[in-house]
Amino acid sequence: MKRHAAGTLGRADLGERVLLQGWVHRRRDLGGLVFIDLRDRSGIVQVVVRPEEHPELSEVVDPVRNEWVLEIEGEVAERSAGNVNPDMATGEVEVNADRAVILAQSEPLPLEGDATEETRLRYRYLDLRRPEFQRNLMLRHRVTLETIEHFDEQGFVHIETPILTRSTPEGARDYLVPSRVQKSTFYALPQSPQLFKQILMVAGLERYVQIARCFRDEDLRAERQPEFTQVDVEMSFPSEDELFALIEGLFARIFPLGGIEPEVPFPRLPYSQAMARFGSDRPDLRFELEIVDLTEVLGDSEFRAFRKTVSDGGTIRGFGIPDAAGASRKQVDGWASIAQSHGAAGVLTLRRQNGETVFGVKDVLSEGELEKATELLGLEEGGMALLVAATSSVAAASLGALRVELARHYELIPEDEHSFVWITEFPLLEWDDRSERWFSCHHPFTSPDPRDLHLLDSDPGSVRAQAYDVVMDGVELGGGSIRIHDRQLQERMFEVLGISREEGRERFGFLLDALRYGAPPHGGLALGLDRIIMLMAGTSSIRDVIAFPKTTSATCLMTDAPSAVDTGQLRELGISLLEPGPDDKAKS
Ligand code: AMO
Repeated sequence: MKRHAAGTLGRADLGERVLLQGWVHRRRDLGGLVFIDLRDRSGIVQVVVRPEEHPELSEVVDPVRNEWVLEIEGEVAERSAGNVNPDMATGEVEVNADRAVILAQSEPLPLEGDATEETRLRYRYLDLRRPEFQRNLMLRHRVTLETIEHFDEQGFVHIETPILTRSTPEGARDYLVPSRVQKSTFYALPQSPQLFKQILMVAGLERYVQIARCFRDEDLRAERQPEFTQVDVEMSFPSEDELFALIEGLFARIFPLGGIEPEVPFPRLPYSQAMARFGSDRPDLRFELEIVDLTEVLGDSEFRAFRKTVSDGGTIRGFGIPDAAGASRKQVDGWASIAQSHGAAGVLTLRRQNGETVFGVKDVLSEGELEKATELLGLEEGGMALLVAATSSVAAASLGALRVELARHYELIPEDEHSFVWITEFPLLEWDDRSERWFSCHHPFTSPDPRDLHLLDSDPGSVRAQAYDVVMDGVELGGGSIRIHDRQLQERMFEVLGISREEGRERFGFLLDALRYGAPPHGGLALGLDRIIMLMAGTSSIRDVIAFPKTTSATCLMTDAPSAVDTGQLRELGISLLEPGPDDKAKS
């Protein structure tokens, strides 16, 4: 007999004989009857065992506890009116068992009650039995399939690139794998398939896509894992418009699987505007709280801190929050410490009460200054504005963080709305004070905007890149760029980045070589698949959409990876340890 899916049974199956195999979700004994909620991947159905009709069954079922695995045969019957359970998909029916076999027993689960996160990760397979995890993994499966199909329809070819490879600079540390055959050498796990996909364009593949596993040894957060999955895309002869349309088409296809209908095309916002208006290159546009520049209005005021900031080349910026004039001193102090964590001295307030705007510091702003600031901030009765006086980048970072914090605090983020936006025209380079050199904002293979090419030597910091990110609800979902396909420009870029000719050849010689042989113009991007599923599933951590995630200290609690290896294995690899491994420590 064919196995039936428990969660699909309903009135249409009345009178049907069915075979079920699954887990005991719950067991209740009621007046001689035994009720078993039997669960499989499809859902739950109630099984009834009637000892007076099937005495032999009661012996089988007697020892059964939660999470034991059973095989049941029986007939689908209507539940009596009083027993219908409208909260259950199969709540109108039950299965009258006439055969039961125990397929597996289970010890009591270590997850009952309020298990800690650690216990849940150690017994991940038990946590994964929960319906929300099952749903998330099914959603991930469906999105992956639809994604591959979308790209296939657009002429893209799915190609796998190596996992054992050389380091690709994406800004994180590499995971290294020692080579046994070539002692003292190491593979790096790919931070992304960046160089391989570019070389596939030189190889004439024209359109590449890969569901690609990437590895980055970096500080972990809710939306970061040491290994994660990208939808990695590259195309030859691209235009930004074409690439954007391709991704918008993909989002319009996959997001509805999570009940989200993106409006396409997405708005585009140049980086400089995103920073000025929202203090972030991944702005959450579901709420307003737009940042306003008050440097002109307040820079000449009596308030010394403002004058000094402006004469030092800084700015005064802020944003208004409706109905926030009642915020307490303590709350404002809390917001000030957020600004401080981004390098600002603190925050200042403007409160609009009784038809008057009052500045946090008494008698330093004139009537005219207060009036203009009130108008620019759009401050209405009962509203409050937070101001920061600092360098442009500190003001942006502080206000960007405060904007999100205040929106959360005052519940200004609409639950069922979503915002998608392209951030364009990123700067090509950023200066690092500590190492006194330029770094790529994206990666060294990103093409400068041809309009700014003449500034590459004279004013590198103001050169824009042909780089873009796609952002949803304040989360960076993906990013990419048009690449450099001219070898000389690529070499020049290495020079600007302080990568010597020898180092450039040593690390990227294969790319430079490939650029000699008819490299077509090309570009692409990569999307963070885990983050996409996270937002679709409405969870706040990518761990919830990865079957076997790592902790924030990059360990897998279930397998206890990473682990010490025995000395024989190390010897074979030609490796000796500077510090004893955890097992050796335990022994000593
Ligand atoms: P980038 O480094 O911006 O670009 O990565 C692309 C996207 O991958 C996701 N992502 C991550 N997701 C989870 N955990 C992480 N640690 C993590 N790091 C990145 C993000 C991000 O937007 N080679 C370029 C792409 C290109 O230029 O085509 C690249 O990797 O969603």
